[in-house]
Amino acid sequence: MRDFGRDLLAAVNRARRDSSLAVLEGFHALKHALRFGAQVHWAVTGDPVLLRELAGTLAPDLGETLASLVTPVDGEIFRAMTAGAPVHTKVIAVARRPPAPEGDPLAALAVHGPVVLLEDPRHLGNVGAVIRVAAAAGACGVTTTGASDPWDPAALRGSAGLHYAVPVWRAAALPSAGSTLVALDPAGRDIGTVDLPAHGVFAFGTERAGLSDGLSGRASLTVRIPMRAGVSSLNLATSVAVVLYTLHLRRAGLPQGGPGS
Ligand SMILES: C[S@@+](CC[C@H](N)C(=O)[O-])C[C@H]1O[C@@H](n2cnc3c(N)ncnc32)[C@H](O)[C@@H]1O
Repeated sequence: MRDFGRDLLAAVNRARRDSSLAVLEGFHALKHALRFGAQVHWAVTGDPVLLRELAGTLAPDLGETLASLVTPVDGEIFRAMTAGAPVHTKVIAVARRPPAPEGDPLAALAVHGPVVLLEDPRHLGNVGAVIRVAAAAGACGVTTTGASDPWDPAALRGSAGLHYAVPVWRAAALPSAGSTLVALDPAGRDIGTVDLPAHGVFAFGTERAGLSDGLSGRASLTVRIPMRAGVSSLNLATSVAVVLYTLHLRRAGLPQGGPGS
């Protein structure tokens, strides 16, 4: 048992450093990863009774898969595997990351719909929340510049495993000349007054400093989400949500105005 625990701990620690693997922490991350086709190499739970309950109430579609995939382990071993951040639903899994899209994915994907470009995001919880809303709203991809790994386990927690529902990769290049690039910036034109393109790259700036001049200088349109006087900006993931759902509602042809409009 001791050796088994040591081996598991070593395996999860290796996976955290392996850029071909994804560490899924929590029931929701595993649930979504399985629903969207992840190849899960192994999964463990520190509480098999809780896992059965969660599967029964939240994912009856995956009940049999989870029962055969997830190995129960001692609670102490499980805690040691969580790298100091408790996993309340007591499940950890290791899956294969899909390979980064080849060629010029920004150009290839942005012809089908909105692709979100996050410039140098610093907060992995934000990155995860952006991926979650991108998956929900039907965006065609999420890409990041800068040092953060968008597949970091903390980002996977934030997305609840929805990395498997939309292409997510680290940008090797900025949008090519001639592509539709929309910059999101509190100093732009009001989103309610512009004809927002349904396809293209939508660029959002880093949490503290906003968009760089280099990136906003390439944009064909700069758009702002209106805010009450005195509020300087929205949270990064919140602003992505507003833009993607504005596009989504316009695509669906739903009324844009309030009651009585
Ligand atoms: C936390 S904000 C950055 C704040 C930064 N001080 C600034 O003024 O841009 C992160 C990113 O979210 C987007 N954002 C936040 N609030 C926005 C708004 N009201 N309109 C348009 N974009 C917004 C922008 O892309 C921004 O770069």
